Amino acid sequence: MGNFTSQAASHLGLPEGLLVAQGGADAFIGIIGLGVLHPNQMALLTGSSHLHLGMTDKQLHGPGVWGTYADALVPGLNIIEGGQTSTGSVIAWFKRTFAPDVDYATLEEEAAAVPPGCEGVIALDHFQGNRTPFTDPLSRGALTGLTLKHGRGHVYRALMESVAFGTAMVLESMAKAGYSPDSVTIAGGPTKSDLWMKIHADVCGIPFTLTKCSTEAPALGCAMLAATAAGWYGDLNDAAKAMVQVDKVVQPDSDTYEQYKQYYNAYKALYPSLKTLVHATSKMATAAAGSEVGDNGSKKRRVDTTTTTTTTTTTTTTTTNQHPKPIVSPSILSADFARLAEEVHRVSNAGAEWIHVDVFDGNFVPNLTIGPPVVKSLRKHTTAFLDCHLCVLNPQNYIKDMINAGASQFTFHIEAAGVDMDCTKAAAIVAQVKAAGIMAGIALAPETATEAVFELVDQGNIDTVLLLSVRPGFGGQKFMPSVLPKVEALRARYPGINIEVDGGITAENAGMVARAGANALVAGTTVFAGPSPPEIIVPELIAEIGAGLLEQRGK
Ligand code: DX5
Ligand code: ZN
Repeated sequence: MGNFTSQAASHLGLPEGLLVAQGGADAFIGIIGLGVLHPNQMALLTGSSHLHLGMTDKQLHGPGVWGTYADALVPGLNIIEGGQTSTGSVIAWFKRTFAPDVDYATLEEEAAAVPPGCEGVIALDHFQGNRTPFTDPLSRGALTGLTLKHGRGHVYRALMESVAFGTAMVLESMAKAGYSPDSVTIAGGPTKSDLWMKIHADVCGIPFTLTKCSTEAPALGCAMLAATAAGWYGDLNDAAKAMVQVDKVVQPDSDTYEQYKQYYNAYKALYPSLKTLVHATSKMATAAAGSEVGDNGSKKRRVDTTTTTTTTTTTTTTTTNQHPKPIVSPSILSADFARLAEEVHRVSNAGAEWIHVDVFDGNFVPNLTIGPPVVKSLRKHTTAFLDCHLCVLNPQNYIKDMINAGASQFTFHIEAAGVDMDCTKAAAIVAQVKAAGIMAGIALAPETATEAVFELVDQGNIDTVLLLSVRPGFGGQKFMPSVLPKVEALRARYPGINIEVDGGITAENAGMVARAGANALVAGTTVFAGPSPPEIIVPELIAEIGAGLLEQRGK
């Protein structure tokens, strides 16, 4: 990369001793064009993004930094790398989106009139994720601290400052790995903005050097390589002395540097505070914008699946003409039974379409929970879809009471006494349930093969097949991956029904279960007793399911 090899001459059959100059990636050649050829110098290549390339004679590694790349440009010198994916592109986005008819000079004037820290407006520059120090493609941009008194200048300056804060953070992560540059020489379009360069220097507290060819450093680097190979200069250092001229050095103002520290700390708090939320929302956005493979195999934008909804009293039967929808069904087994209505409202408001009601009789499973009376009370407080999972013996004895109590779906076990793995008996129960206008589900314990219900489901009256992925009877257990092949087999056979997986679902495994073909996931502990509040985890689970189903359909 950017070096001279006499070996290349003989390899290419050229006369002995001839030097061959080889180019390289623009940013790395830009390092040469900035004359950054010695240890502890840093080249900062900017444009739509920022690339921080530090020269060092040490081998360094550490969290949040990339490299060092040994002998990457100059023999004996290593390169440590940092990066910000969205910098100039953020400024261009703002102008294009909010100020298309205004020139940059005006925007800069407005921003210059705003004090450092933008009177509390702090932006996060992760518009296309973060390269370093977090290397998180799902992180997203943000604007915080806005009030009605803030104007366009505040926002524009906040975006400029957020990029400089990001640069300071890259330098901080490098310092932790043992590298702090003595000087930073900067190249690229952003160098045209005096204000932005000043902000960089004041935020980072170090001088930023601009050369006379800062906007075309890679091109100058190529010229230097060619000139040296042509024998005009003894080596690149001589070429740099002759061809690279410093234009100006932007010095930091020490008071402003001190003033920025508090805002820099606020900037650093943004990513950890927003991470879970933006991961959920960026997955939602992906799921919503997802595409499906069209009939001719070409990618087409995902069409909203039309749903035929028949609503009778409090029950809603939602099946789609095309594909079952992503559904989260929080299991109230893990909720606070003394505040059930409140808990149900909270998860419904967070986007849960179903509410999973585990009815355990203490016989079919060694646990006793709730029955029709509680469902009846609950129904008075919510119109939510009550997805009732009966782990009971003789489920036929509960049909009438559960329907009168307001159940929206009656799911019973094929293994239960009174059903005895017999699809005819099961079909009779299903017929009674459907006659009352609610949905019918059949549940399989982990050890029951899917074939056990094919005869029943083939009759076309089953809305949902529930596959337990934990030992029936208790919440908070570990997910059993052995359920996945059962999901795949059922989805392959029944593309249009709900396949519900119940037990041990988390944000980490939901996508995997959906990719197998499950569209409805029950989550008790994760929603009611997990690390994230329902407002975060329910949308995140929905997004995971949606994305997983898109992948499954794209297969
Ligand atoms: C287990 C129940 C599940 C359980 C799920 O027999 O049928 O619905 O409550 O709880 P988590 O999500 O905590 O595994
Ligand atoms: Zn359940």
